[in-house]
Amino acid sequence: MGEGRERERADEQIPDPLIERYCDPLTVPRALMESEVYQMHRADRSTSGPSRMRTAILPIDVVVSPATPADLGAINGIYNHYVEATPFTLDADQTSMAWRREWFGSFSERRRYRLLVARSEGVVIGYAASRSYRPRAAYDPSVETSVYVASDRVGRGVGSALYSTLLRQLDGEDVHRAYAGITQPNPVSERLHERLGFRRVGYLSETGCKFGRYWDVALYELAFPVLRRCRTRREIAPGRMQGDPDAR
Ligand SMILES: CC(C)(COP(=O)(O)OP(=O)(O)OC[C@H]1O[C@@H](n2cnc3c(N)ncnc32)[C@H](O)[C@@H]1OP(=O)(O)O)[C@@H](O)C(=O)NCCC(=O)NCCS
Repeated sequence: MGEGRERERADEQIPDPLIERYCDPLTVPRALMESEVYQMHRADRSTSGPSRMRTAILPIDVVVSPATPADLGAINGIYNHYVEATPFTLDADQTSMAWRREWFGSFSERRRYRLLVARSEGVVIGYAASRSYRPRAAYDPSVETSVYVASDRVGRGVGSALYSTLLRQLDGEDVHRAYAGITQPNPVSERLHERLGFRRVGYLSETGCKFGRYWDVALYELAFPVLRRCRTRREIAPGRMQGDPDAR
């Protein structure tokens, strides 16, 4: 088969009943359908009862710890795979190392915004993060959380180890709510969030456009059990205006 024909085949769009509710026309790009992680995430829908794929793979021993600047290359590699091959992130462009380094500056080993990595035999195979949910000061007690596992290590408990550690750490901080947006369908991520106490609180229909299709996003919320005093960077200052140097 000639090179042109090969490329044509790779770009072919394939009907997939799994996402027919979500896409118009009812197709997904071949590259996405063939990716290992997409197959895993769809396994949950096509079988009733526990997935055979899941039980066939042994869990991995991982060590979860705060990320260091030396981990940013691995984090970038993990994330950019999902940018290129899946709708699980609705980022359209890969993230550069320069962007990662700046992003890293928003985390600390204490307080609300954390970045954790999971290592297996010294190699970073996943990460989880909590970041500012919205920049306005009143949202300070809310965080947005996310978790990504290297596509060749999914389904072995790494995501659970990372996310449960992150949420346990945040539970000791001044955090009241955590939010996660899950592009549909993603039954593995939904299961992970629900098992750790998140509940679905919203559903945005066709809110994202990627691979030439619209995607729905389910909004998940975790209410931290300890009721803490409502506190933000600053209280309301009568007369302070938007645009004042210290206003947000
Ligand atoms: C979502 C993700 C972080 C989960 O991490 P993981 O290491 O793959 O998941 P785990 O092995 O910890 O399993 C989490 C849950 O999903 C279930 N699960 C895992 N693989 C499964 C499969 N193939 N079929 C059905 N269920 C599966 C597990 O049983 C577990 O639930 P349980 O504890 O009730 O048994 C990971 O798959 C990933 O990075 N996916 C792509 C990126 C993504 O979607 N990130 C989240 C964005 S919101």
